[in-house]
Amino acid sequence: MPSLELRRKDWRAIEADAVALFVTQEQLPQWGRELAEHVPSVQAALESGDITGKHKSVTLLYTAHAIRAPRVFIAGLGSESSLTLEAVRRAAAAVAKRAAALKLRHLAFPIPSAAPGGLSPEDFLYAALEGSVLSQYRFSKYITREQDTGLVERFTVCTPTPAEQRRFHPVVEYTRTVCEGVFWTRDIANAPPNEIYPETLAEAARQLGTQAGFSVRVLNKAQIERLGMGGLLGVNRGSARPPVFLILEYWGTRRSQPPVVLVGKGVTFDTGGISLKPAANMSEMKADLHGAASVIGTLAVVARLKLPINLVGLVPATENMPSGSAMVPGDILRFLNGKTAEIDNTDAEGRLILADALAYAERYNPQAVIDLATLTGACVVALGHVVSGLFGNHRELLERLKRAGERTYERVWELPLYDEYAELLKSDVADLKNSGGRTAGAITAAIFLKHFIGNYPWAHLDIAGTAIAPQETDYMPKGGTGVGVRLLTELLRTWEPLPTESSS
Ligand code: BES
Ligand code: MN
Ligand code: ZN
Repeated sequence: MPSLELRRKDWRAIEADAVALFVTQEQLPQWGRELAEHVPSVQAALESGDITGKHKSVTLLYTAHAIRAPRVFIAGLGSESSLTLEAVRRAAAAVAKRAAALKLRHLAFPIPSAAPGGLSPEDFLYAALEGSVLSQYRFSKYITREQDTGLVERFTVCTPTPAEQRRFHPVVEYTRTVCEGVFWTRDIANAPPNEIYPETLAEAARQLGTQAGFSVRVLNKAQIERLGMGGLLGVNRGSARPPVFLILEYWGTRRSQPPVVLVGKGVTFDTGGISLKPAANMSEMKADLHGAASVIGTLAVVARLKLPINLVGLVPATENMPSGSAMVPGDILRFLNGKTAEIDNTDAEGRLILADALAYAERYNPQAVIDLATLTGACVVALGHVVSGLFGNHRELLERLKRAGERTYERVWELPLYDEYAELLKSDVADLKNSGGRTAGAITAAIFLKHFIGNYPWAHLDIAGTAIAPQETDYMPKGGTGVGVRLLTELLRTWEPLPTESSS
């Protein structure tokens, strides 16, 4: 990840490859006149009409020694009325990407004295840094040839005043920590399945735990057998590699306070098993552990921020492979909570491993349980790659997730869990079957999970569409997006005990 620092310097004195200045359409005339006093070349650029303030427009000007940095980027924010945190992220990503394309290494940002559009200067800075840092991600460790665009290596926020220095220091620290979590999560999601499989995922989590300050317990296959996690074991049967069950713990407040538990689907590669997937795009299923990666990444962020909450991460991890020993349709599995399910389709494997983890979560008497999973293609059909599917049994928890989704732009959209859908999962020979057929696939998957939750507030996020981006967008790379880390950190940043509700 690029480095992110705060320096006590005026933007005119900062040594950097370029200084980025943001402006709205409304601010432009007045702002331009003032800026021209420091950077005379702005005058001619304004007169040419090339600087418009249009959202995501970026104008490069050379400063000819008028200030210390040789270049200034004028970044358009659009009109004040449409200036949101997300607009700032995207405008900042546009500048950072332009700098990267020019192979510039070091970009400086002055702190906005009065942030436009009703945003606080803190929020403006947070969004600008998040957008620019997150845009500088590339999964390139396996590419040996020379790259034709660079990456910005260093972002410096500058202010000459000690008061502003103190005021904005926490914003810079917070944003750096969150972005580190997102980068880690993207790396795990993008890693090839011959690098990241259950045991190496466990090792990566261990290392991160040591660095960030959370504990990692790795249950091996024998321990998983002793517990009776028949879902995780069933899915693992076709694989040459053993499963793991990861238990991550961060105790940020009194031990007597029950934790929030995050559960992440950790299918390190999903071939579909005996119900084999088609060959086209199967490699995308290396990211079928994105939920797990998001959970582990979020634990790192929360631990590094030392948030005053207790947080547990549970990650069932396995490959889903076809082989002579693989589970087959018709098999019946028995889960940790004693319930049984008939296998209708071995490709509906995520819910099988989550069932054991959701049942395990009950041992913590949790305040809330939130699971994240690249669970269904049906969710991608319903919501595309724009928004995650949201389900759950506790109104306030769901509303909090929606609010966190709006702020971070990791948006969520609630889908129903009406009783009628439960019919679709009826089995003649077991408590349930693992697939409800073609209709309402995202919902029937969530209903399957609901059979395994304990007596706790629960939310399920189907991130199948949002975790794997088909195309690069402003600050999201193609492939693993890191979705979930920013959403959950935002939720937990201001966590308060949930009110009791009659559960549905
Ligand atoms: N991992 C897939 C879901 C998925 C599909 C994630 C596309 C991301 C992109 C999941 O294990 C799966 O295969 N689900 C099946 C369920 C069906 C067999 C009931 C699906 O969605 O087709
Ligand atoms: Mn599958
Ligand atoms: Zn899957």
